[in-house]
Amino acid sequence: MSLEVVNVDEYELLAKAKMSKMAFDYFARGSEDQVSLRENREAFSRIRLRPRILVDVSNIDVATSVMGFKISMPIMVAPTAHHKLAHPEGELATARAASAADTLMILSSSANCSMEEVAATGPGVRFFQLYVYKDRNITITLVRRAEQFGFKAIVLTVDTPRLGRREADIKNRFKLPSHLVYKNLEGLMNLEQMDKSSHSELASWADSHFDRSLNWKDVEWLQSITHLPVLVKGILTAEDASLALQAGVKGIIVSNHGARQLDHVPATISVLEEVVYAVRGRVPVFLDGGIRRGSDVFKALALGASGVFVGRPVPYALAVDGEAGATKVLQMLRDEFELTMALIGVRSVKEIRRQHVLTEQDSMK
Ligand code: FNR
Repeated sequence: MSLEVVNVDEYELLAKAKMSKMAFDYFARGSEDQVSLRENREAFSRIRLRPRILVDVSNIDVATSVMGFKISMPIMVAPTAHHKLAHPEGELATARAASAADTLMILSSSANCSMEEVAATGPGVRFFQLYVYKDRNITITLVRRAEQFGFKAIVLTVDTPRLGRREADIKNRFKLPSHLVYKNLEGLMNLEQMDKSSHSELASWADSHFDRSLNWKDVEWLQSITHLPVLVKGILTAEDASLALQAGVKGIIVSNHGARQLDHVPATISVLEEVVYAVRGRVPVFLDGGIRRGSDVFKALALGASGVFVGRPVPYALAVDGEAGATKVLQMLRDEFELTMALIGVRSVKEIRRQHVLTEQDSMK
């Protein structure tokens, strides 16, 4: 393909031209008025970088280690659902791209490919993202399968007792094409069963199956049924970070679900530091939401993240160019991150410091 894509955002425009409106809106949009969606990006652009000069940057190492796993860079793949809406190979292409980049991928429980199929693509560090369904036996089965197929951790999404109000999906009467399924849930539940209260099949699906009663006791329960480490994804406050630690989780992902749940929550990068302070190094803190540049990765690490996850750019790139597109997204972010490090004067991820960034709060002091 002769297409010269030079940054991650370009994939969004190309994907828009290629996908159906229903599919593109599903990937692209946030909830209600898109306030948090815009803010996830804008908050990054309000953070300034403080470069140090005349540092020998002839050798830069962007490798890191996440929960004991060595990966080539602190940039990982977030769980986003329904990759076959973007490309026929779906999550298999994503898994291959993540492995080729030697980085970690979280597989969504709402993927169109099963854990078994993803595992069969070859070696790779993978975590499994979990929603808890009304029937707890389903959760137990999913956790067993994750263990069986070599997934290294369970990522419990904690911001979705109900689906946020995604008005584009309501307007488009979002419906999964009949050849696509929730592959991990096949045989575990009646996939056709959903209340028809919303015009969006996704909202009806979540309303029918997600367990709205999920609470901190269940986080303890989840840990009692598996030897895998459990991370929680969707923390936005210091208070909840403290509760997560009390519940014994092994990692925290600061996330607002790509601004698809509660609108008007802050950008994740704006609340990262308060979570990091509350956690005080006891478990790693990660971030997702609005990562589109290597400099965003740098800012998140300077504010205390142990790594970041990338959501939408992966399905956009899949839609445009399949596995090669997803690979290129990871490569571009890696290259930009490395260049940012060089121009700021740091040679390894460990050398990234709080002093390398200036936030709005800093300027007000
Ligand atoms: C998501 N996200 C998500 N999260 C999750 O825990 N389980 C899931 O199945 C999904 N599915 C999903 C689908 C789509 C289309 C999007 C855009 C997002 C949220 C995702 O993991 C992550 O939090 C955000 O995507 C990060 O923000 P950016 O990188 O998309 O801005």
